[in-house]
Amino acid sequence: MGEDVPIRFPVRVLFCSSMNSIFRENLLQDKVAFVTGGGSGIGLRMAERFAAHGCKVVLAGRKQERLDAAADAIRAAGGIAETACLDVREYSALEATLQKTRQQFGDLDILLCAAAGNFPAPVAGMSANGFKAVIDIDLLGTFNTCRAAYSCLRKPGASILAISANHATMPIAFQSHVCAAKAGVELLIKTLALEWGREGIRANCITPGGTDDTEGMRRLAPTEEIRRRIERGIPLQRLGTKDELADLALFLCSEAASYITGAVYVCDGGQSLCRTEFSPIPAVK
Ligand code: COA
Repeated sequence: MGEDVPIRFPVRVLFCSSMNSIFRENLLQDKVAFVTGGGSGIGLRMAERFAAHGCKVVLAGRKQERLDAAADAIRAAGGIAETACLDVREYSALEATLQKTRQQFGDLDILLCAAAGNFPAPVAGMSANGFKAVIDIDLLGTFNTCRAAYSCLRKPGASILAISANHATMPIAFQSHVCAAKAGVELLIKTLALEWGREGIRANCITPGGTDDTEGMRRLAPTEEIRRRIERGIPLQRLGTKDELADLALFLCSEAASYITGAVYVCDGGQSLCRTEFSPIPAVK
């Protein structure tokens, strides 16, 4: 097979409604989730999946219009959703919003830290403030969210989930800020699993690879040619989907994962086994 005709393993056809899910219906009935980065991308798709399984979701993000559109779509599909316009870099805003959420819905069952920032830039071409912006959103933002939520988490029973990236364990050129931040996120989450485990709080990470139809991918693969090069370097020969990540999040936040904590679940088509940028998988002859 020629290099330009890649093998493409099929993307499973997935549906958002609980009835068509491979999971039991209403798996998260009456639970409550707070989702940062909930207005778009992976965070939103996970929130939609939680809501489709009966979970009340609070979508937190920086853009009210985007949050409103996302919450309206969840409500239109029969779910319960509220919005919170905030920046995870501001601790007091998070604390006040989480207390309000608790008053409205009760203790939190799920805390999803999905807020993230990214732009490609070499170290020598990045300002200290640019580096700090990503560390503050990804790493400090995850700390802020977990710390501010601590008193609101259901004990026992709460599940914390953070979105990491392959950057946490492999250096990627022009991504020093994300590599440093995600490495920190993974160890922060493992430390939380250690410290809060005796109160019945679980904490895990999901590590996506390149994920289709996300802001991150639009920034990192702005042309079809770059996208194809990345896909050729992935053992499964395609980008992942937000639905695949949402199903993993649903599993990790369900009772089926009640003994899983401090884990990092890689969902990347095998991308982290290879150096995607520089060593595409040879085409099968
Ligand atoms: N290249 C180099 N530096 C950049 C940059 C780029 N593309 N984008 C931002 N920066 C720098 C800015 O120059 C600034 O530094 P300076 O004050 O020394 O000039 C610093 O980062 C902060 O920039 P600012 O415009 O204040 O952004 P912000 O703090 O509001 O947000 C991001 C920064 C990274 C979150 C922004 O790029 C963004 O909104 N990204 C979209 C979210 C995203 O990427 N999601 C996908 C995650 S995988």
